[in-house]
Amino acid sequence: MKSSDVIAQFNKYVIGNYTRYPVCLTRGEGSYVWDAEGNKYLDFFPGWGCGLIGHCPPRVVKAVQEQVATLIHVPNTWYTESQGALAKALSERTTFDGRAFFCNSGAEANEAAIKLARLNGRGTGANGGDRYKVVTMLNSFHGRTMGALSATAQPKYHQGVGPMLPGFNYAPFGDLDAVSKAIDAETIALMVEPIQGEGGVNLPPDGYLEGLRGLCDRYKLLLIFDEVQTGMGRTGKWYTHQHWNVKPDIITLAKAVAGGVALGGLLAKPEVAEKLKPGTHAATFGGNPIACAASLATIETIEKEGLLDRAVAVGERFRARFEALQPKCPHITEVRVKGAMIGVQLATDAAPVVAECLKRKLLINATHGTVIRLLPALNITDEQIDAGCEILDDVLVNLK
Ligand SMILES: Cc1ncc(COP(=O)(O)O)c(C=O)c1O
Repeated sequence: MKSSDVIAQFNKYVIGNYTRYPVCLTRGEGSYVWDAEGNKYLDFFPGWGCGLIGHCPPRVVKAVQEQVATLIHVPNTWYTESQGALAKALSERTTFDGRAFFCNSGAEANEAAIKLARLNGRGTGANGGDRYKVVTMLNSFHGRTMGALSATAQPKYHQGVGPMLPGFNYAPFGDLDAVSKAIDAETIALMVEPIQGEGGVNLPPDGYLEGLRGLCDRYKLLLIFDEVQTGMGRTGKWYTHQHWNVKPDIITLAKAVAGGVALGGLLAKPEVAEKLKPGTHAATFGGNPIACAASLATIETIEKEGLLDRAVAVGERFRARFEALQPKCPHITEVRVKGAMIGVQLATDAAPVVAECLKRKLLINATHGTVIRLLPALNITDEQIDAGCEILDDVLVNLK
């Protein structure tokens, strides 16, 4: 089918809740995708952060093909080998004794974390009351379901679908005093992305994450890191908070965790996790054999191909390119990089940059209005980085 025919079909039958580029993608390999007309695109934003090891990574393809021919789905009333093996693999890569719960997306992972926090807060408040409130940060993004959306401290996403769930207080990202003021007698948890992704690739100031841990210890709160975008090696450690000297109580994962196959989950300390008893929470497809096999193959790929180190090298190559460009391009006001998570702050709207790059067959993302966000595959080559940056340089230098 031609792109135009596919688009016509969408216009008739698919709800228009996404702004889509007028292109139908049909195939992907590594850092390239092709459209229905056979055009080839270099992808600096594969799968919206899910393509951590590129499109159709061979080990994931093979693992899924084998699994799909063996057992597609059984409910969580049974044991399956791959779910247990994945829980072990993810737990062994934390710095705490993590216990896993699996679901299918980032929003669901955060819903589970919020419920788990509330379960831990039962009867722990004043006079045996419940603590149920969660403090989250302005410009955060935690997902689109009502709980995760209420945690997402960006009013633009709340518009038209209120009221939000009660029990969330917001504080500016990076401001420990504000977090401290947002905590009250009913607070049970702080929830934060170690690096804000959708909010503009915002790095935590020095001491911030450790300071949050300190507040949690002082007020007996749970520290939840939303690692949906930052986890799984994106920034050069399995989990991004591991760059700092801080241990969370819960981390949430999704996006890249299964190499592009839908999977979400959380890891919690055993004494926290134990409150998730039968009947408290569930997900029909959570931890299904296909997603778990894909995730195990993703971990194997990252390990065998040395991709944690490569994440750092990728980030530094992009940093060098953008910092070299900055004197020639007054639109660039800041370059923010942690491994393969790259934000270029512009003094102007970033959407025209995305549109112009698309014309030149380079896929990038704009977030928070003025930030170019790149989440390249960890196995992107230096040549591919340079080729894409040549295009970006030209587009940015000539931006009106
Ligand atoms: C940090 C973070 N948390 C949660 C989510 C929601 O994930 P999903 O779209 O899989 O529900 C996202 C998605 O962009 C995210 O970046």
